[in-house]
Amino acid sequence: MRTDRTFTMLKPDSVEKGHIGAILEKITASGFRIVAMKLTQMTKADAEEFYAIHSERPFFGELVEYMTRGPIVSAILEKANAVEDFRALIGATNPADAAEGTIRKLYAASIGENAVHGSDSDENAAIEGAFHFSGREMF
Ligand code: RTP
Ligand code: MG
Repeated sequence: MRTDRTFTMLKPDSVEKGHIGAILEKITASGFRIVAMKLTQMTKADAEEFYAIHSERPFFGELVEYMTRGPIVSAILEKANAVEDFRALIGATNPADAAEGTIRKLYAASIGENAVHGSDSDENAAIEGAFHFSGREMF
């Protein structure tokens, strides 16, 4: 299992608000190399599968609605210790708890609309990257 890659999405609110460029700049300035990237929109079935781990949670319906309401930027990022370092860069799930300077502190509106996704393990990074990209879209 490689430990130098993670998967991210700039969620619909980031795209709607015109934050794609600023967030990508912060990601690359923090030492992550983009090895796959596209603008895409998840279907309801996609979002239900992607966030299946949360299917019993009370916010699941809202989460699927949010993640499918418009395009996202999905990407695979490469850096040593990628998963942990990227979670540190994005900050806590709830922007109210996120550290100063983190992407969620800067760009997230609420716990429900929190600007970015970051994989939570090397295993999930590989699964999520393969969910969004074919082998010939990864470099
Ligand atoms: P993500 O998977 O998107 O990177 O976020 P995360 O690990 O920080 O948080 P997670 O617990 O995996 O939750 C997934 C996404 O569900 C939405 N959420 N809403 N209303 C709520 O209480 C609530 N809690 C979570 C957020 O969009 C969160 O990122
Ligand atoms: Mg998560």
